[in-house]
Amino acid sequence: MDSFNYFILARSVHVLGVVAWIGGVAFVTTILIPSLIKITDSENRLELFEQLEGRFAFQARFVTLITGASGYYMLDIMNAWERYQHIQFWWMHLMTLIWGIFTLVLFVLEPLFLHRWFKEKAIKDSDGAFMWLHRMHKVLLSLSLLAIVGAVSGSHGFQF
Ligand code: HEM
Repeated sequence: MDSFNYFILARSVHVLGVVAWIGGVAFVTTILIPSLIKITDSENRLELFEQLEGRFAFQARFVTLITGASGYYMLDIMNAWERYQHIQFWWMHLMTLIWGIFTLVLFVLEPLFLHRWFKEKAIKDSDGAFMWLHRMHKVLLSLSLLAIVGAVSGSHGFQF
């Protein structure tokens, strides 16, 4: 296999990672959190959330690594680092920003304090905590979808 084929493999892995990752974020945002908000027993709600999101967080960590590594590999093969200096490659900036936010949240903030902080917030004011959680997920999902549209169009030659 020459490097061209490795490049195509990296692109496929990248897109698979994006599908599993952002698809999961879409499920959590549009189905899971709205269903949890409907549960009136706040203790039950928190327990269910911790069980379900905990499983997804493990998967999300794995796909974040794969998506980042395959993206880095493609950039390196194309030697396209200078794209970060041009505004028409805004989708490259956005992809990288989203990756950075998720990496920070999943690998640093959540294990350090976010998990504990959210649990305490949810025990004090369950409705408020879950509304906040929903808002954060909606912002991240919207940015991710925008990055996907920009990246697919941009990498196939279309400029907005
Ligand atoms: C460190 C993080 C990332 C890096 C370095 C990176 C890098 C890249 C590169 C180099 C390409 C190929 C561009 C081209 O062919 O001109 C690409 C494509 C793409 N990336 Fe990323 N990416 C990253 C994260 C993400 C994230 C978080 C998303 C989703 C929100 C994403 C979605 C996509 C999509 C949909 C494509 C287009 C695939 C295609 O249509 O062929 N990437 N990325």
